[in-house]
Amino acid sequence: MIRAVTINDIPFSCFDAGSGHVLLFVHGFPLDHTMWSAQLDYFQQGYRVIAPDLRGFGKSGGADDLLTMQQFSEDLHQLLDVLEIDEPVTLCGFSMGGYIAWQFALKYRRRLARLILCDTKAAADNQEVQMNREVVASQVLQEGPDFLVDGMIEKLFAPISGQTQPEIVKQIQKVIRSSSPLTIAGASRGMAQRIDAQNILAEIDLPTLVLCGTEDSITSLEEMRQFSRAMPDAEFHAIPGAGHMAPLEKPELVNHLIQDFLSKTDV
Ligand code: MLT
Repeated sequence: MIRAVTINDIPFSCFDAGSGHVLLFVHGFPLDHTMWSAQLDYFQQGYRVIAPDLRGFGKSGGADDLLTMQQFSEDLHQLLDVLEIDEPVTLCGFSMGGYIAWQFALKYRRRLARLILCDTKAAADNQEVQMNREVVASQVLQEGPDFLVDGMIEKLFAPISGQTQPEIVKQIQKVIRSSSPLTIAGASRGMAQRIDAQNILAEIDLPTLVLCGTEDSITSLEEMRQFSRAMPDAEFHAIPGAGHMAPLEKPELVNHLIQDFLSKTDV
């Protein structure tokens, strides 16, 4: 069920279904909560699944020319308050959602029971990537998001997914095309300013599941394996044949690994 929630006078749209322990799904860039559809369908049988459209994305308001990971994580914290969720939740972040998860873990550790990190990075952007983010921000404000679609789709999916699952590629093309240019610019700039989470890995003592598609061309499998080793209580799994969008490309395996992780780290 989609519910409307107001946070600091900004209207947010949030998927909320099921009951029990809360799984909070945080989408990537420039997407919305629908990227989690296979996880939301599956996990609402045994859990309460919450998946907001982040500030400015999807059907949520609040687009701005700078949207930081701190801001997104404060929004999530307030969302839990507004939904009257006091017990610690499992936060599952994909890519930019993972950058937000680091920030959330740093500031709101007591609100978390576990972390699930899909196709994301711990390292901050280098200067070249930061400069490229600014180029994207300026271009999207002038031209709109169409130019991003082709360039990003190639990077988001394993080549085989385009042939065998054209419907998920179309789904994501549509979401990118309908994203707010101001939000894309704001989140690009926000990602460029994000913290280097490599410095805090040892402090994040939550049970953590780290997943990465073997064909991910945005996030390096090796980098994810390395950062999971630097965390006190993390396990890493590769998702064979998936690109960056592993939760959408290989939902059965991703759901199975998440279910297994939830069962064995009962909190
Ligand atoms: C995402 O999928 O959220 C983005 O590709 C992350 C990024 O651009 O670093």
